[in-house]
Amino acid sequence: MYAKSPIVVLTLASLASAALVRHVICPNGKMTANAACCPLFDIIDDLQQNLFDGGQCGEDAHSALRLSFHDAIGYSLYDPTAGGGADGSIYTFAETETNYPANDGIDDVIARQKPFIDGYQNNLTAGDFIQLAAAVGVSNCQGAPRLAFKLGRPKARFPAKDGTVPEPFQSVTTILDRFSDAGFDKGAVIALLASHTIAAADKIDITVPGAPFDSTPYSFDSQFYIETSLRGGTYPGTGPNRGEASAPWNLQGEMRLQSDFLLARDSRTVCYWQSYFGEEDRMRYDFKSQMARLACLGQDCHNMIDCSDVIPEPKPPAGKPHLPAGSLPSDVEGTCPGTPPIPLTPDPGSPTSVPPVPP
Ligand code: HEM
Ligand SMILES: *[C@@H]1O[C@H](CO)[C@@H](O)[C@H](O)[C@H]1NC(C)=O
Repeated sequence: MYAKSPIVVLTLASLASAALVRHVICPNGKMTANAACCPLFDIIDDLQQNLFDGGQCGEDAHSALRLSFHDAIGYSLYDPTAGGGADGSIYTFAETETNYPANDGIDDVIARQKPFIDGYQNNLTAGDFIQLAAAVGVSNCQGAPRLAFKLGRPKARFPAKDGTVPEPFQSVTTILDRFSDAGFDKGAVIALLASHTIAAADKIDITVPGAPFDSTPYSFDSQFYIETSLRGGTYPGTGPNRGEASAPWNLQGEMRLQSDFLLARDSRTVCYWQSYFGEEDRMRYDFKSQMARLACLGQDCHNMIDCSDVIPEPKPPAGKPHLPAGSLPSDVEGTCPGTPPIPLTPDPGSPTSVPPVPP
């Protein structure tokens, strides 16, 4: 009896590794898990050159990620009419969905991606394209995780309803309820908000377009969690605007959403928020896990083709987590009982301003 069990284990182990090394060599010489993924290599090269300005983590990469979220979150576990999730409806039914207030500015991203979505319509649905572009865009940001990508979303059948995308002026309860309705608990929400480490706002205060949410908008790091937790005092433009909270006095130019301000301090979410201070491995891992779920909302991902290995490998992080010059550890607001945030050292020197993300 006992002698047999290692053999069984060995057999299973070799089967498992055989499955893992399964690959095909594409006509262009590149290797991937499935021949159906082969066309993606050329599409990704085109996106990198012509959409992402040669592989940058700039405005186009940021807005590709935002678009993937606004498309996917059009979904409810309980209301089948809320939307088809990550189905590309935000593109296919753009005339409807871009009029929703929460999609302010999404028309710009759609205009930028339209030539590519149309050009590849025989190869990819809009739903697949939007998730692919987000994964490729994020891969351009140093320190980012390599996001998963699955191929095979059918065409969108109907637009998502208004109200599925959260708004920055909403209460924590309203925001958590909306995410919960789509299947994301509060820990998952805070993990997904790592996205705001590579983000800026154009529409909260139109006098300061491209105002970043942290001092390192080209780097996927935990500065977003750290800086949103610091005491506020100033606005980048004419604030306070609707959905805006004040940013630290020593980070002039930075924009803080009221929703991020509240989630960083609310008793339900503060521990998740502060747990990411300097914990960038876990931050990357949790974001990647929740993004994989987001990209599959409303979709039969188990029966789709896993093309994750076509996504470029991101560069490692550049800097170390820190407090910006001029901040003190006592400027951190919000307390997680029993678990104080990890100690951070302020940068030496005098405060520097945070330049906008160019369009
Ligand atoms: C509490 C939920 C959320 C709220 C209230 C929210 C709200 C906003 C707002 C108001 C902006 C600025 C838009 C503008 O003025 O141009 C923004 C930008 C952005 N959001 Fe969110 N967001 C949320 C969650 C998410 C999630 C889950 C993701 C992705 C997984 C995401 C990705 C982004 C990105 C990448 C940008 C920057 C776009 C750019 O720089 O072009 N957001 N968000
Ligand atoms: C996309 O599909 C068209 C039509 O089937 C084909 O000619 C073209 O080579 C495909 N593009 C890529 C990048 O594979």
